[in-house]
Amino acid sequence: MTASPITDVARRLLANVDAGRPDHAAGILEVPVRDYLDPQRFERELDVVFHRSPLLVALSCDVAEPGDFTTLDIAGRPIVVMRGDDGVVRTFLNACRHRGASVADECFGHARRLTCPYHFWVYDTAGKLVGVTGPEGFEGMEVEGLIEYPTAERAGAVFAVLTVGATFDVDEWLGDMASALEMLQLDKLHRYDVETRLPSGSWKATADGYVDGYHLGYLHRSSIGARSITNRNTYDTWGPHVRIGFANKPIVEMRDTPAEEWDLYEAMSLVHFVFPNVSLSGQPDRSIMFSRILPGPTVGECTVSQYQYFRQPLVDDAAIAEAEAKRARYEAVTYEEDFLTVMGIGRRMPAMADDVVRFGRNEIGNQTIHTWIDRLLQTSGD
Ligand code: FES
Ligand SMILES: [Fe+2]
Repeated sequence: MTASPITDVARRLLANVDAGRPDHAAGILEVPVRDYLDPQRFERELDVVFHRSPLLVALSCDVAEPGDFTTLDIAGRPIVVMRGDDGVVRTFLNACRHRGASVADECFGHARRLTCPYHFWVYDTAGKLVGVTGPEGFEGMEVEGLIEYPTAERAGAVFAVLTVGATFDVDEWLGDMASALEMLQLDKLHRYDVETRLPSGSWKATADGYVDGYHLGYLHRSSIGARSITNRNTYDTWGPHVRIGFANKPIVEMRDTPAEEWDLYEAMSLVHFVFPNVSLSGQPDRSIMFSRILPGPTVGECTVSQYQYFRQPLVDDAAIAEAEAKRARYEAVTYEEDFLTVMGIGRRMPAMADDVVRFGRNEIGNQTIHTWIDRLLQTSGD
């Protein structure tokens, strides 16, 4: 099975608009509020969901050429993702094998070698230690290179498990999400190199916003939800991953036109949520808003990092100005509308700790990610 094409999603959206309802789950899901608050559960989530499950650590276009690398810190794991001279992308712990200094600092960069700034030990693009200053002082040392995490590249993205020696099957993990991501042509994107980094509350309450089609025409009614017909969403789930379709108002004018001829950008919006922490908002042939949720030091804090990707490199001032304006607009919406709401929920949760959060039949995305977090915790064996 492969994921259905976007035109099928559009057809289903129009059917939902006509029926006056979104796709529905079998029942309501209740999640204990304590699950959002418990520091011990949070530590287990970091271990099981972020350190022992595959994570999307880069888009292929971020490390397109040998020597390209990107660095990030996910749940206490500072990593560098680098394409080797052999074309293979690898993920390393960003810590020198001498005394642990970081070997790469730029968020995105290119290098023939990674040289640790502390005592100038040198690693090649495959992470191999190829130079030690004052080598006579380290005779007999048995270190081959940087600590490496299992990594696989699929569907224009790079996935890694941030545990040494873990095994994972990326095809099994993604299922048909792989074909959904392939439609987005993530390997053919160009990043606008300005990051938006924003604070939010609990990582799960923040993720709840990214998989929630229901709130668009309410919380965002004056901004990104203005052209939406709210709560008529389609949901496709593949394992823990979710593709959410949003109906836009012009879709009803396309009723008498074959779906193949629709202007899909006008008719609908599309979000792919790659479990557990990456949202890709956008359509094939269009720009993509990339958001990554990074759990914070405590259960009630996270950071969201956002980048815009375009189908063409941004070469002229007008294109850059347009990207910057879009970035600023999106920053305002996500911080002032989504994340302030999430942080407000976080302030209330201790007082409602004995209650539950309710996910309706229309909240399939939320039901999916919470069911999977529970499942992973239960099957983790500890
Ligand atoms: S810590 Fe890297 S060379 Fe010393
Ligand atoms: Fe939102």
